[in-house]
Amino acid sequence: MNTNNIQIDSQGKLRHLLKIDGLSRSHLTQILDIADQYIAYNQHKYSALDSLKNYTSVNLLFENSTRTRVSFELAAKRLGVEVINFDLSTSSIQKGETMLDTIHTLQAMHCNFFVIRHSENNIVEFIAQNVNHEVAVINAGDGTHAHPSQALLDMLTIRQHKKSFEHLKVAIVGDIRHSRVAHSAITALPILGCKDIRIIGPDFLLPESKITGVEMFRDMKKGLEDVDVIMMLRIQKERIKNTSLPDIQEYYENYGLTPKKLKLAKPDAIVMHPGPMNRGIEIDSSIADGPQSVILQQVSNGVAVRMAIFSVLAETLAL
Ligand code: CP
Repeated sequence: MNTNNIQIDSQGKLRHLLKIDGLSRSHLTQILDIADQYIAYNQHKYSALDSLKNYTSVNLLFENSTRTRVSFELAAKRLGVEVINFDLSTSSIQKGETMLDTIHTLQAMHCNFFVIRHSENNIVEFIAQNVNHEVAVINAGDGTHAHPSQALLDMLTIRQHKKSFEHLKVAIVGDIRHSRVAHSAITALPILGCKDIRIIGPDFLLPESKITGVEMFRDMKKGLEDVDVIMMLRIQKERIKNTSLPDIQEYYENYGLTPKKLKLAKPDAIVMHPGPMNRGIEIDSSIADGPQSVILQQVSNGVAVRMAIFSVLAETLAL
């Protein structure tokens, strides 16, 4: 095991999925290529696959979720994986059991995939260091740090529309500072060859320090000029402490994606949003539901990408 990067095994294969950092282009394209094959399966609802029928997945989501929880569950079931939706509110964590004791308890019952969402950055790394060869940990979003399966489904969606990443201009708009989605996308895009990444937002939502290779804009009109991809983000109110939130109308005027601002991008630009959306704050409804929006396609791709993640991780588990 490479101790510098717990998510890669000694053969260079994906052992856990914790973050995009440390993964190569071939790790990412392997998952995207396998996901492509599952897209047809998801569209046509062929008879259930049973390629992973000996595996069990546990959803351990310590933060709210709609898309990630449901798509990990569907992805697992479509591969024949048994799924346990761990109910935190009725679990022994409420009696003081530690997270690690809970993990070891589930491991003793031979559960194999732990899909974990938590408010604490890097907690998934700690868990991955403390599980046995039968378990793979999948980060379903940790704090402001990483959301790798979201980045992979975002990359798949971009690839479906734009084919190559080499000459793309990608703008990420809104609350970059508190967004694990933005952090994972900003890492994944250059790995796949994208050289023009712009982040756009007010000072208090931009990163505190410069990110190498990423251009920062306070003026949305300048940042959106000629871009191919616009990724909108909601303000992560639950993570913002000690700062007063902006006036909603003022924020919408400056950083909301309106039809007028969308015209600054290329005519065939796609509009993305990881969800959940706050309509009328970061995005106008006419755009969210309009012809350039690929937001629901992102959701559909999420199931195929998560099927691919299970399939790839299963190869490195020793049951
Ligand atoms: N994009 C995303 O993580 O959505 P959920 O919070 O609904 O899972």
